[in-house]
Amino acid sequence: MSDRIEGAVHEARPHDSAARHVTGEALYIDDLPEPQGLLHVYLGLATKPHARITKLDLAPVRAAEGVVCVLTAADVPGENDVSATHRHDEPLLATDLVQFVGQPIFAVAARTREQARRAARLAIVEYEELPAVLDVEEALPRGELVTDPLTLRRGDARAAIAAAPRRLKGRMRIGGQEHFYLEGQVALAIPGEADEVQIFSSTQHPSEIQHMVAKVLGVPSHSVTVEIRRMGGGFGGKETQGNLFACIAALVAKKTGRAAKIRPDRDDDMIVTGKRHDFLVDYEVGFDDEGRILGLDMTYAARCGWSADLSGPVTDRALFHAENCYFVPDVELRSLPLKTNTVSNTAFRGFGGPQGMVGGERVIEEIAFALGLDPLEVRKRNFYGVEERNVTPYHQTVEDNVIHEIVGELEKRAAYAARREAIRAFNENSRIIKRGIALTPVKFGISFTLTAYNQAGALVHVYTDGSVHLNHGGTEMGQGLHTKVAQVVAEEFQIDIAHVKITATTTGKVPNTSATAASSGSDLNGQAALAAARTIKNRLIDFAAEHWSIPADQVVFLPNRVRIGNQEIPFRALVWQAYMARVPLSATGFYKTPKIHWDRAAGRGRPFYYFAYGAACSEVAVDTLTGEYKVERVDILHDVGRSLNPAIDIGQIEGGFVQGMGWLTTEELWWDEAGRLRTHAPSTYKIPACGDRPRIFNVALLEGARNREDAIHRSKAVGEPPFMLAISVLHAISDAVASVADYRFCPRLDTPATPERVLRAIESLRERVAEPEERAA
Ligand code: MTE
Ligand code: MOS
Repeated sequence: MSDRIEGAVHEARPHDSAARHVTGEALYIDDLPEPQGLLHVYLGLATKPHARITKLDLAPVRAAEGVVCVLTAADVPGENDVSATHRHDEPLLATDLVQFVGQPIFAVAARTREQARRAARLAIVEYEELPAVLDVEEALPRGELVTDPLTLRRGDARAAIAAAPRRLKGRMRIGGQEHFYLEGQVALAIPGEADEVQIFSSTQHPSEIQHMVAKVLGVPSHSVTVEIRRMGGGFGGKETQGNLFACIAALVAKKTGRAAKIRPDRDDDMIVTGKRHDFLVDYEVGFDDEGRILGLDMTYAARCGWSADLSGPVTDRALFHAENCYFVPDVELRSLPLKTNTVSNTAFRGFGGPQGMVGGERVIEEIAFALGLDPLEVRKRNFYGVEERNVTPYHQTVEDNVIHEIVGELEKRAAYAARREAIRAFNENSRIIKRGIALTPVKFGISFTLTAYNQAGALVHVYTDGSVHLNHGGTEMGQGLHTKVAQVVAEEFQIDIAHVKITATTTGKVPNTSATAASSGSDLNGQAALAAARTIKNRLIDFAAEHWSIPADQVVFLPNRVRIGNQEIPFRALVWQAYMARVPLSATGFYKTPKIHWDRAAGRGRPFYYFAYGAACSEVAVDTLTGEYKVERVDILHDVGRSLNPAIDIGQIEGGFVQGMGWLTTEELWWDEAGRLRTHAPSTYKIPACGDRPRIFNVALLEGARNREDAIHRSKAVGEPPFMLAISVLHAISDAVASVADYRFCPRLDTPATPERVLRAIESLRERVAEPEERAA
């Protein structure tokens, strides 16, 4: 018998659905067999950013070919609200007021999708327009907030800045981002007996969909079952944004008694659903002649859109990551979650953390240019200490700092210093192409900042043939969560992973789950599944000890077999014997993250169980005539603790990095003065393609790493932290741009650093250099 199982933890193995993803056999919701009489639903959308509806004539919609029903807010039997918060500020369908271009006003169900889509355009809507606030600049002076702002404070930032030998201040614009999941939003509702309804929803948060549908239909949660096998990408865009679609499908299903499906086309998906928040960041910093930060004051103003959605926790997380890896003795950070008449912005990989970090890294860059130092040197001088200088602006002590080790090792692997020299020499002699390099660190806090969300459940059945049915509250969106959790269960029972069946997430098996988000999917669900498996395993041990009259410690689970005293029997044989002896072979498991607590009002606590760390070194080449650039080489060293699955983790790092690079470089959201999103299709919104990937891309996991906290098998979360490694690309571009003015001025690039913006930065630096000295001073 083999002395290893297939698919143990820490083994690099493919995603369980990898082959099916490629062959097309993996089922997404739109691939499911369609129930008889299925209706297809489309939404009628507002065309004004802020207006009262003075006339709504839906007769032409009703009269259109194939239309079966048209629903408005008046048809909602329960509460007309799909808000993810307790603010109840997000009507499912608008009543008399519309607050952004794209807000759903009515839904039309028809026999075919094309009929519904055509009919939706026939409505006659008249508006009385109201003043609209579209962006952060406009919203700032008005100061209307969608949710409570946060302040983090330690010491006296103003006094420290005033007393510092050097100070500077500035402002940075950080753009938003469209999720661009390949599978768009989609929901299928199948009505059952009485008030029952089953929902298939492409969602990261089945429990919330369940509660939302129940609320909208006015039925108890027990009447609604939500199921999701997998998403074709979520990235945070399916944490709350599926609520609308699931509720519309459910509403149509209950009204008509027929199954109903809604799948908006890409343009509508981009117009209707929330995105990453864009921010306007104001910073003022006091520092010494060595570049050490003494005092820091920052305001993070975010365009939240028309409703709160997740803007509270997103803007909170921006503040939690503003200081990144750096100790700031005296600090004050404020968030301003501003209300605007645009789509309601939402979760997106990193959940505000990336925006926070981009702002903080700009401060480092400013200091470096002000002092003529290598930005990496300034970074290192400000790193959190290991024993001291280790308290964050939210008063959590950094106990697991490995950033010195990671950055030191990466500097060597990437030959940072030598390449920086070589690039400077190259730039001296290259008139048009300028190269740039940057090495930036990441420290990302792991846990939901709302402590209650840090819980998870699982359900494990062992059948009499020894095969295992695994279910847990997490959802699969391509990140490999199900594969990792199956490895945990296979390891616990010491059976090949082929014996562990991964099943669809459903609210009927594991209730009251949290969203699969905050990178905590495997930490939470892995532990819950481990607990369930261990319960069954312990029952099997107790049974064997009693049945064969031996001490329990003589029952040992070996690969695919069990040693009982001095005999060995297959796992399945033990299971069968246990069944015959009436031992229960099904168990639930539960987990809650220890040690964490957070007092938001006081701005104090330990919101994070631990931190994930990483660093990236990027080199770019910029064409100074056009502003176009290429990423020539990227080296990454990232800490995933003791990886549950190194193959999947490296995939997450590569994917996260490239998605982050898209955010900071080419992905630009653009609204016109009428509040219309004009970048609502791949023709105008540029996500990274194969040709944009770094030419040389070296990704490594920190060797010998191990989570010092008791996280699942000593691994660390990996879903979001690598996204922020892409900040190195922004800074490398900035380094290349700065060369045109002999590195005298900080280019102050806003993001996304599109070729257009890069070119403008180059021009403005050239103008500054051309100015007479006294004016430049
Ligand atoms: N990877 C893929 N392939 N697709 C996704 O949608 N979402 C990211 C990340 N990696 C995502 C992904 C986001 S936003 C989060 S929070 C985590 O995965 C969620 O999964 P986890 O907690 O299991 O890591
Ligand atoms: Mo991820 S933004 O926490 O879904």
